[in-house]
Amino acid sequence: MKIKNICCIGAGYVGGPTMAVIAQKNPEINVTVVDLNKQRIAAWNDEDLSKLPVYEPGLDEVVKEARGRNLFFSTEVDRAIDEAEMVFISVNTPTKTYGEGKGMAADLKYVELCARQIARVSKGDKIVVEKSTLPVRTAQAVKSILDNTGNGFKFSILSNPEFLAEGTAVEDLQSPDRVLIGGEDTPEGKEAMQALVDIYASWVPKEQILTTNVWSSELSKLVANAFLAQRVSSINAISELCEATEADVDEVSRAIGKDSRIGPKFLKASVGFGGSCFQKDILNLVYISKSLGLNEVADYWEQVIIMNDYQKYRFAKKIITTLYNTIADKKIAFLGWAFKKDTNDTRESAAIYVAEHLLQEQAKIVVYDPKVTEEQIYSDLEYLGTLSSEDIMNRVTVVNDPYKAMDKAHAVAVLTEWDEFKSYDWDRVYENMMKPAFVFDGRRLLDEAEITEKGFKVYTIGK
Ligand code: NAD
Ligand code: UGA
Repeated sequence: MKIKNICCIGAGYVGGPTMAVIAQKNPEINVTVVDLNKQRIAAWNDEDLSKLPVYEPGLDEVVKEARGRNLFFSTEVDRAIDEAEMVFISVNTPTKTYGEGKGMAADLKYVELCARQIARVSKGDKIVVEKSTLPVRTAQAVKSILDNTGNGFKFSILSNPEFLAEGTAVEDLQSPDRVLIGGEDTPEGKEAMQALVDIYASWVPKEQILTTNVWSSELSKLVANAFLAQRVSSINAISELCEATEADVDEVSRAIGKDSRIGPKFLKASVGFGGSCFQKDILNLVYISKSLGLNEVADYWEQVIIMNDYQKYRFAKKIITTLYNTIADKKIAFLGWAFKKDTNDTRESAAIYVAEHLLQEQAKIVVYDPKVTEEQIYSDLEYLGTLSSEDIMNRVTVVNDPYKAMDKAHAVAVLTEWDEFKSYDWDRVYENMMKPAFVFDGRRLLDEAEITEKGFKVYTIGK
């Protein structure tokens, strides 16, 4: 079966870049990405490529090549579904904020809405692909909705989780470590899997395209994120031990990472992992384990989150104690707000939680981030629900000049590892700061010896 038209529901951080690359590599397939959010679609269609709603290095080039040729962004959801032989569901699956499983389970209401919509508008057989990250066995629910509310057409469900990381999305999509496709072991299931394999085979070597049963595929996505996050929490746990023993966590990482069984990646100590998925997916894994009565399994994975929350708290506490146990009305400059470099995404960023702790102590915070808007920063703090709007407006300022952020500050806190922070004129910064001038490097980004020599008092996480 040869696919000619693809529809992707959800034009977010995954739907947009993923479909852009599929369209780039398969010029003969029409790919339409749809979303209910009109503003987002308008931004994807903006002539000015710097206005794309997702900032990712290299994405503008891919969009430029494919958009208008075989890549389209639209709000006409029904039409795009109807015209496609293959529909990807790439909507958000956040942690539930209400009812059963509140604070842990994945909220599947957007996925269910998609399934119902696909069933309602389809006038032919379709392959439905779960691209969103979903709890294991969600495909069963999707299939049941499609079969019971559809117009009698056949639906094959595939699981095709996405492994891209933000900031390197285009690179990850163009040369993935693997593509994972889960499907049913029936003639229709196999045919559907082959149709999706053929799309990826346009650019991904065959041996890197793994096919499994649906449940293994759904579960593997949660497990991959849990393992990655677990490495960060493990090294962050060691970072505190290093600080107490004069060991250096970067040296420990290098030493252990040389062991090929451990490997060098994801061993960078930090102020804590952020992003929209690690916490959400581990909580989901914990919830599933608890629901199955597997309490030890649940507790084991929950500890990864507990460690991460502790790391953010520990960093904020270090700032407070170092600044003589009082930070009321002291100005603290935040370098970075995004959850990692090279993205404008701030979801679950450690910066938000560190700011919250410091604001509870009535600090004044001035934020500079090269890609995050002022509006986003205020909305992240409002969303916490623990700070009054008045406090947020009075105590937090957002600037677009880093030197202005650090001018007359008592301390600088590095929250994101943006490359540009390394090349600042630190002599000039020192001159204009309050003395003693403190730097709290939550990302181990700056050369500690070099800036200590300039007069700063430096705290580097894990050192
Ligand atoms: P996102 O919030 O950026 O995008 C989701 C989009 O879906 C939104 O624009 C929303 O308006 C749209 N949407 C929701 N319901 C809709 C409906 N019924 N019809 C049309 N549009 C609808 O989310 P994201 O970061 O792209 O994540 C999507 C999924 O991919 C999640 O399950 C996530 O766990 C997973 N994932 C994310 C990443 C990542 O790096 N962000 C990586 C791998 C997997
Ligand atoms: C992560 C995974 O890496 C992707 O494979 C996955 O597809 C994605 O989640 C998802 O499901 O959403 P992402 O969250 O975009 O990608 O970014 P990462 O590079 O994994 O970083 C996550 C957080 O961990 C960041 O805050 C980062 O700064 C932190 N981190 C990462 C560390 O603190 N130390 C490290 O060594 C690595």
